[in-house]
Amino acid sequence: MIQDELKKAVARAAIAHVVEGEIVGVGTGSTANCFIDELAAIRDRIRGAVASSVATRKRLEGYGIVVFELNDVEYLPVYVDGADEINTSMQMIKGGGGALTREKIVAAVAQKFVCIADASKLVPKLGTFPLPVEVIPMALGHVRRELARIGGKPLWREGFVTDNGNLIVDLGGLAIVDAVELETRINQIVGVVSNGLFACRPADVCLLGTAAGVKTLTAD
Ligand code: A5P
Repeated sequence: MIQDELKKAVARAAIAHVVEGEIVGVGTGSTANCFIDELAAIRDRIRGAVASSVATRKRLEGYGIVVFELNDVEYLPVYVDGADEINTSMQMIKGGGGALTREKIVAAVAQKFVCIADASKLVPKLGTFPLPVEVIPMALGHVRRELARIGGKPLWREGFVTDNGNLIVDLGGLAIVDAVELETRINQIVGVVSNGLFACRPADVCLLGTAAGVKTLTAD
């Protein structure tokens, strides 16, 4: 099965996790887009959605789905999003699309994080995918130097500006042993807004698209 079909399959499976009559948090990226396409078919059975990026908001609104500001939402039962990498502890690297900070905020509010991913995203160890770090523009030089001290190779994603008006540095060459420690450590660097490790708040469940069908994984 080709990757796009696997993405559509997990997006369809994620609909079972949407709570009727409630608001659903929606992630960003090609897999999340497949989920939005599926959500459109049940839009009359939900109150609406919270978007993790401008692009996601536009796609939701294009289907006539009501998009709420997160600050106007007190209860968010579920958040559905993709990942760039996920391990068997349900820890992830996210932010390939640069929406990591808003994704992390919506995930923090949600009761349940449902990760939807094709089988290529499941890895034995996080870190082959360069870790995105969102940076306040005036701190770019400082943050790059501090990230280099951690041991990786920081590469500025030139020409890219996040929905928050910030920059992204992709930290490659990492061998991540303790993802919670690394997520916390990078966040301590002055000028870092957030980083794409989702280890302090991992997914609760991963719907993984494989040639043998959609598998439901939880932390080992
Ligand atoms: C967006 O910033 C990312 O976190 C995406 O969720 C992640 O990169 C997965 O994207 P794809 O579904 O396009 O692979």
